[in-house]
Amino acid sequence: MSRRSFLREFFKANRMVGSVLPSSRFLSSKMLAPIDFSQAKLIIELGPGTGVFTKALVKAIPKDCQLLVIELNDAFFNNLQKQIISPQVKLIHGSATDISLFLKEIGLKHADYIISSLPLSNFPKELRSSILTGCKNSLTPEGKFIQFQYSRGLKKMYGDYFSKVQIDYTVFNFPPAFIYTCSNS
Ligand SMILES: C[S@@+](CC[C@H](N)C(=O)[O-])C[C@H]1O[C@@H](n2cnc3c(N)ncnc32)[C@H](O)[C@@H]1O
Repeated sequence: MSRRSFLREFFKANRMVGSVLPSSRFLSSKMLAPIDFSQAKLIIELGPGTGVFTKALVKAIPKDCQLLVIELNDAFFNNLQKQIISPQVKLIHGSATDISLFLKEIGLKHADYIISSLPLSNFPKELRSSILTGCKNSLTPEGKFIQFQYSRGLKKMYGDYFSKVQIDYTVFNFPPAFIYTCSNS
């Protein structure tokens, strides 16, 4: 999907898309850095958009690891369906609010990692709270929730759900981004 098409989706639903451009490969590598691929059996991606992180994840996951990808937007989902073809990947056209339902559908309760690009700070508080609670409950005890944001001041927001919150950043993205890695172990 082109940058122009991404921008078109932004103008159609800016609170849901949250960014005018897809993330850079530099941000992608920072988002994947906390993942121990030798141990991961299930990774969930929320809000893949054009699939910048999805494509990097597909390259990195070992053969015994599954990737569950959840996208709400019709155009992004249809585009991903054409581009991501792998027996290890399940693409879901739905909302991150239903994460536990989607896990149940594949017969699993917990993921090792959740990678999220959702524009959570644009969301109404109740929606954000429902998604973060769902994510917390869908992780193994050692699991990690990895989320990027364009603001540094959100440690407290994640701290309401996770006991450990670490922040990394990259200037090689437009806009520069902060990567929050959250866990309860
Ligand atoms: C900032 S874009 C990120 C796209 C891509 N991952 C990137 O980094 O370039 C946010 C994405 O979250 C999706 N999204 C928003 N709300 C969602 C929800 N409730 N469930 C699943 N995806 C959602 C949007 O459609 C969009 O694709």
